[in-house]
Amino acid sequence: MPQSIPSSSLAPVAVIGLGKIGLPLAVQYALHGRQVIGCDINPRVIESVKAGISHVQGEPELSQKLAEVVASGHLDATCSTSEAVKQAGVVVVIVPVVVNEDHEVDFSSIDAATVAIGNGLRPGTLVIYETTLPVGTTAGRFAHILSQQSGYQAGQDFQLAYSPERVSSGCIFRDLRIYPKVVGGIDEQSTAAVKAFYRSVLDDSTEILVMDSADDAELVKLIETTYRDVNIALANEYARFADARGLNINAAIVAANTQPYSHIHTPGVGVGGHCIPVYPYFLLAGAADLPSNAAFPQLTLPRLARRINDSMAEYAVQRIENELGSLAGRSILILGVAYRGNIQEVAFTSAQLLQSALVAHGAEVYVDDPLFSAEELHAQGYAHILIPEDENKVCAIILQAAHQEYTTLASELAHGRFAHCQVILDGRNALPREAIEALGRRYIAIGDGQPGTTERLRREYEITSPLTS
Ligand SMILES: NC(=O)c1ccc[n+]([C@@H]2O[C@H](COP(=O)([O-])OP(=O)(O)OC[C@H]3O[C@@H](n4cnc5c(N)ncnc54)[C@H](O)[C@@H]3O)[C@@H](O)[C@H]2O)c1
Repeated sequence: MPQSIPSSSLAPVAVIGLGKIGLPLAVQYALHGRQVIGCDINPRVIESVKAGISHVQGEPELSQKLAEVVASGHLDATCSTSEAVKQAGVVVVIVPVVVNEDHEVDFSSIDAATVAIGNGLRPGTLVIYETTLPVGTTAGRFAHILSQQSGYQAGQDFQLAYSPERVSSGCIFRDLRIYPKVVGGIDEQSTAAVKAFYRSVLDDSTEILVMDSADDAELVKLIETTYRDVNIALANEYARFADARGLNINAAIVAANTQPYSHIHTPGVGVGGHCIPVYPYFLLAGAADLPSNAAFPQLTLPRLARRINDSMAEYAVQRIENELGSLAGRSILILGVAYRGNIQEVAFTSAQLLQSALVAHGAEVYVDDPLFSAEELHAQGYAHILIPEDENKVCAIILQAAHQEYTTLASELAHGRFAHCQVILDGRNALPREAIEALGRRYIAIGDGQPGTTERLRREYEITSPLTS
């Protein structure tokens, strides 16, 4: 029989998945005196971590802290998850779960990690999942796989818990200090163990919020992220209403949010990223096996919000068409393919939806993003990458990701770039309207009320610069 390992404060911690989140977590635990073994299936990740070099860029404090904990012998790394788990008293899993093109949850990576954990699991070990999951996954799917692989019973032979990782890339160590840590076990013993573990690896001032169960803890992350998607969808509907009425939604939102119970988000050309457009589908997945009846008519709002937010790309294109007439054969430039400004990530970016909508309207789509090479942009499916020789073909620009580099767009227009660009659609409310309008270019933003006053503006505007060709 394998020896039982108590999940005491001295037992090694295995962190499974050394990505953007897992690597900083491994470092955090090591900095709190734990012996940490990081596990990943990517040998290049293991090689660099063992050398004390971070493969994750743009994470403040990480490079220096990683070098420190590797040099002090507190952090080691391996491709062999089962072997690491055999030595560990605590296992923290932070391997991604994604959705496929049909919005179905894809567990393949985390299932594989869970099989490997099960193969090395010993009695007394505490297994914690931190990856965002549909409700019921830890206590159901993962308890089953772990028990099947190890021959041990969850709760009886080993502890099992869930704790959502709520930090954001780019400020992980700060967030670990200030965000309350939500935890929930599959039983009382697991809950006590997970609470004790985080108490030992987080700062004394970090609050630990204990939920009634792993399911409850899973729900927390899904509702906080889905809230943001639904909130943005509401802001987008407000914006379209304001456009139709000729009102300025952004000013209205700022004013509304001065009331302490109003927290309306910002409208825009779409919602991207790993989390906000994805986790509503996790929430829906957790409801799929529940009977729909009068008491529970399924989750209609998150589904609708997804549709509204994904329709904003088409709406933006229609607004440009309102200004220019038919887009057939016209060259339109998307600035920024990243899902938001100043990050080099494209997960579920609205740039893809914008490209599809523009192509459907017959336009020729150009893209630009200083954070990606032309090769990378081609690999993402963009046919025309902007080169200086093509700038004069562009008749409209959509700001999709408000990268720092684009803040100077107005002065670049003033210096003659994009000489034939008539319309700038500011999809992120990030450009200086007045400076752009002073150059005789049409500036539009989602929810700026322009369609409702289109004719008046068009009359005024056509005096200096006709908008239709
Ligand atoms: N990225 C964020 O901003 C963020 C924020 C909060 C929470 N999260 C959560 O963290 C999870 C991980 O996100 P990330 O950004 O660190 O992902 P990532 O893609 O940067 O890293 C994932 C790592 O897991 C490794 N991996 C894949 N399959 C594996 C397996 N079977 N065994 C061991 N390692 C395996 C990959 O090689 C990769 O290094 C997300 O799915 C999400 O639930 C992410």
